[in-house]
Formats: sequence, C-alpha cells, structure tokens
Amino acid sequence: MKHTILLTGGAGFIGSHLTRLFVTKYPDYRIVNLDKLTYAGNLENLRDIEHAPNYQFVKGDIVDLPFLRTLFAEHQFTAVLHCAAESHVDRSITDPLAFVTTNVIGTTALLQAAKEAWKDDMNGKIFYHISTDEVYGSLGETGFFTEETAYDPRSPYSASKASSDHLVRAFHHTYKLPVKLSNCSNNYGPYHFPEKLIPLCINNILTNKPLPIYGKGENVRDWLYVEDHVRAIDVIFHTGKIGETYNIGGHNEWKNIDLVKELCRQVDQKLGRDKGTSEKLITYVTDRAGHDMRYAIDATKLKNELGWTPSLQFEEGISKTIDWYLANGEWLNHVTSGDYREYYEKMYRG
Ligand code: NAD
Ligand code: TYD
Repeated sequence: MKHTILLTGGAGFIGSHLTRLFVTKYPDYRIVNLDKLTYAGNLENLRDIEHAPNYQFVKGDIVDLPFLRTLFAEHQFTAVLHCAAESHVDRSITDPLAFVTTNVIGTTALLQAAKEAWKDDMNGKIFYHISTDEVYGSLGETGFFTEETAYDPRSPYSASKASSDHLVRAFHHTYKLPVKLSNCSNNYGPYHFPEKLIPLCINNILTNKPLPIYGKGENVRDWLYVEDHVRAIDVIFHTGKIGETYNIGGHNEWKNIDLVKELCRQVDQKLGRDKGTSEKLITYVTDRAGHDMRYAIDATKLKNELGWTPSLQFEEGISKTIDWYLANGEWLNHVTSGDYREYYEKMYRG
C-alpha cells in the first residue's frame, strides 16, 4: 500500500533520521514533516533531502487541533509517525508544563484529528507513537524492561510520555484507532542536539570545556545508534501488529563515567592528542533531581516476532558519531550559536 504520512517532529534528532529513511527508501510514499521548530528543531538536519519530490515541510504545532484538522483534510493522510515531543529530562525539571502541553495535549490533539479523519474507514491506517523506555521508571543493578513492565515514570518528561502512551492505547481500545507503539532506549548519533550527554561531551572536548558528570557518574543507560532505532520503526510500521507495543534497545549498557572516558579516549586518538588529555576535563557536578539509576531494554519480542537486531557495535557507532561531529563543525557551530534558526527564514520565507 502507498502511504501519505504525517511525520511529526521531523526536524529533531530521531525525526530527521526517520524522515530521511522513509523519503529515500519509499519514493512512492509522500512524507509531510510537521514541526514547530522549537529550539530542538533544525531544518539543516534535512538539507540533503529537502528538495525530494515526495517530501514536504509544514511549520506548525501539534497542540493546535483546528490546524491539524485542516492538514488532515488537505493531505488525506493514511498514517502518522509521531516523533514530536519535548525530550530533555533536565528541561522538564525546570518547565514541566511545556512537557505536558506538547507531549500530552499535543499527542491527544493528534489522536483526535486522526480519529475524526479516519472515522469512516480505519482500514490500512496506522497511528505510530514513538516513545521511550523511561516510562518504565528506574532499574536496580539487575533486570530489564519488557513490554509487560508496569509503568513507573519518575521525571516530568517520562510522566508526560507515559501519559501520552496511555492516551494512544485508550484511543485504540475506545475508538478502535489502529495504533502501534515502540519504547526505545537512549539514542546517539549524528544530528543529536548538544544538550544531551554524548553530543554535549563531544562538543565540550572539542572546545576544551568541562565535561559535567552528574553525581558519581554511576547511572547506567542502554545506548542504541539512531539509525538502528529508525530501522526498527520501519520494521514495526510495516510488519508490527496493530495495538501492540515493541521495546527497542541495544543490550548496550554503559555507566556514564565509563562512556565519557571512552569518548575522551576516541577523540584524543582521532585528533592525535596525548592519551588522557580530554579526561582532565571531567568535572563532577550536582546530581540531577530524581536521577533514574539504570535503564535496560529487553528487545526479545522485536527480535523474535519481527526479526530486528541492532546492526552496529557501540565502539563502531560511537566512532562513526565522533567522525560525523568532527566533519560537521559548521552544523555544530550553527547549533551552539543559534544560527540554525536563520536557515528556516532563508529556506521558507524566500
Ligand atoms: P528532539 O527534541 O531532538 O526533537 C523533537 C522535535 O519535535 C523537534 O524538531 C521539535 O521542534 C519538535 N516539536 C516539539 N514540540 C512540538 C510541537 N508542539 N509541535 C510540533 N513539533 C514539535 O527529540 P528526539 O530525541 O528526536 O526524540 C524524538 C522522539 O523519540 C520523542 O518522542 C522522544 O520521546 C522519543 N525518544 C527519544 C530518545 C532519545 O534518546 N533521544 C529515546 C527514545 C525515545
Ligand atoms: P541524557 O543524554 O540527558 O539522557 P536521559 O536523561 O534521557 O537518559 O543523559 C544521559 C545520562 O547522562 C543521564 O544519566 C544523565 C547524565 N548526564 C550527565 O551526567 N551530564 C550531563 O551534562 C548530561 C546532559 C547528562
């Protein structure tokens, strides 16, 4: 079946990789990227595909239901790939309302618009909600999150994502909206905004700034290369069952401090610096409030039912990521200086 897809948040980190994959792999699909272009949205992430004939950008807010109704009427979407969100835990601690607004109200507005547009014929339609493993809460030293793990969100970010997941399932059970969900572990790779741990540390190593480690650096995250995440979304979108949830993860757990040391080692090696040069920048700072200790995903269901496995080992993925940041200094400069905002003005306002 040919799809006309409303992809939300396509100018962000994961959304831009997902947009690129669908635009290039499925030339007979039409992809409409709806993005509000918050601080995290950057159209420079999509430069290579912005003129593709099956791609269109629309600036707008998922919270605006009348606008969404018009968009659905105009494009006759057959599917939604919902990536738009406020995504940074630290920002959610300072401004929880922004997270409830976009992640909860925005997702509900999108569900409502899809439900209204598809009410006479839900056949073949897909509302795919992209979510996070953080909804499951925090693990101790052992155990993994499965699709059956009870929700226990502990930050305003994860609580807002958990709430959006519940609403997606509620629309399925109440209105038979054909939904699919996936909950993924921490992503890394090109086009990652340098407020998150890995791009922040790469940027700070390159600019000789302190590498801030929260608490003792013993918190554990399960890291997955972003292209593996969007490959999994592609598989679930096309072969996953309606109404089901799939966990996505890399079985790749790292303590923050070990991860940052690995980044230091690889950057020093690539730049021909003396061993240990960048590690001197490591600085322990006050811990994040309510800092979740450990996340780890069990992705057995996705592997057994749909045959997906990660393609990259972490050392290789992180090496590719560092190489990308070294080769894309202009992107990093634009993002850190705020110049990327001018790109939209130039591109879309003549
Ligand atoms: P991001 O912050 O890089 O991008 C979010 C995008 O959404 C931006 O382009 C932003 O402009 C847009 N946006 C925000 N509010 C909007 C609104 N009201 N209307 C329209 N557009 C809006 O986020 P990301 O890291 O790419 O995450 C994408 C999705 O994947 C999120 O739903 C997130 O919860 C989920 N996720 C992220 C990770 C991760 O490690 N980054 C892991 C698992 C799941
Ligand atoms: P982050 O990239 O913000 O992702 P998340 O909080 O969604 O997992 O953070 C990853 C880990 O790194 C998390 O345990 C918090 C920690 N961290 C630091 O130690 N220093 C930092 O400057 C940042 C941004 C994160």
